[in-house]
Amino acid sequence: MNPNFSTKLIAWQKQHGRHNLAWQVSDPYKIWLSEIMLQQTQVLTVSEYFPRFIEKFPTVQDLANAEQDEVLALWQGLGYYSRARNLHFAAQQICRDFGGHFPENRESLQQLKGVGRSTAAAIAAFAFGKRETILDGNVKRILCRIFALDGEGKAFENQLWDFAEQLLPNENKDMKAYTQGLMDLGATVCQRKPNCAICPMADICQAKQQNRIAELPRKKSV
Ligand code: ADE
Repeated sequence: MNPNFSTKLIAWQKQHGRHNLAWQVSDPYKIWLSEIMLQQTQVLTVSEYFPRFIEKFPTVQDLANAEQDEVLALWQGLGYYSRARNLHFAAQQICRDFGGHFPENRESLQQLKGVGRSTAAAIAAFAFGKRETILDGNVKRILCRIFALDGEGKAFENQLWDFAEQLLPNENKDMKAYTQGLMDLGATVCQRKPNCAICPMADICQAKQQNRIAELPRKKSV
């Protein structure tokens, strides 16, 4: 479905996406840590905390063997402290249940405490080049706009997952650029107030064609 989308996104990411983030590495431990930090914290703040954390706990074994207080101390200021407790627990899961190595498939990654479907997919794609789709707030926004998808609730959420899955490139090749592209497009172009002038999807964007950018994605009703 729409082969155009993944091809364009990959090409755009390679040329215009972000390539100098500290967690754009091959170590699944670092990728996992960054994805947990980035769940509720912006890139600029994570860029400050991430290196300090890695310096203190260079490997998942170091983290697993730490005292919880040491982990919480390094998390001080990031908020949502259950993330830090889950992170510590998940490091012990890796050491105990997975022989100290991150599993490569999404389903196993989802067994780690604090790792939901989208985070597991991000780790599988970034660390292992797996063909898995992410769906966070940024991705929902770009899909709702580019394809004029409108709805709310659990059923709509499920539709978005299916839709996002259909959009994946046919081959595993370029899954890192594709996944980073979804994030980069949402974070640097298709923000709440989008910059359509520089958007690689402007020519296929349904919300733009239909003049519905302000109304998509639909706001949650209360
Ligand atoms: N937000 C969530 N994951 C991210 C990543 N890997 N890079 C940039 N922003 C993100």
